[in-house]
Amino acid sequence: MISDNQYINVDTILNRYGNKKSSLIAVLQEIQNEYKYLPEDVLEYVSRKMDITPSKIFSVATFYENFSLDPKGKYIIKICDGTACHVRKSIPILNALRKELALSEKKHTTDDMLFTLETVSCLGACGLAPVITINDKVYAKMTPESAIQVLQNIREEESK
Ligand code: FES
Repeated sequence: MISDNQYINVDTILNRYGNKKSSLIAVLQEIQNEYKYLPEDVLEYVSRKMDITPSKIFSVATFYENFSLDPKGKYIIKICDGTACHVRKSIPILNALRKELALSEKKHTTDDMLFTLETVSCLGACGLAPVITINDKVYAKMTPESAIQVLQNIREEESK
């Protein structure tokens, strides 16, 4: 459930696009930037405001891989498993992070909502493989140990 205050942000986004139906994808993208996912109640609100059926909005939201209907953690870790990263052993890093965070192929976000772990096909930094990003900050030439160290640093920062 989102607060009234957050609906003001949604209104700001909608106003920016003048509620134009052709702007649906751009609107959803901005909402996702705001919340890191597409909350169901916000989508219903957008449906009413833009006069687009909920099923249409839902089909757009599920069609594009970039959109998420699930809440995400404060830190979004993307681990690259493109060819360059894969041959330089990205999978052991993925496995180490999953183990450290008690996540799995099906569970992507920690219960404390601190971390979300995702795989991507190429982060466009193949020369730095294997690569992870955390909230768009790039970490190059990772190993399972260095990736876990990065997590520990974040946890330390968070506990201050
Ligand atoms: S394959 Fe990993 S950055 Fe390109």
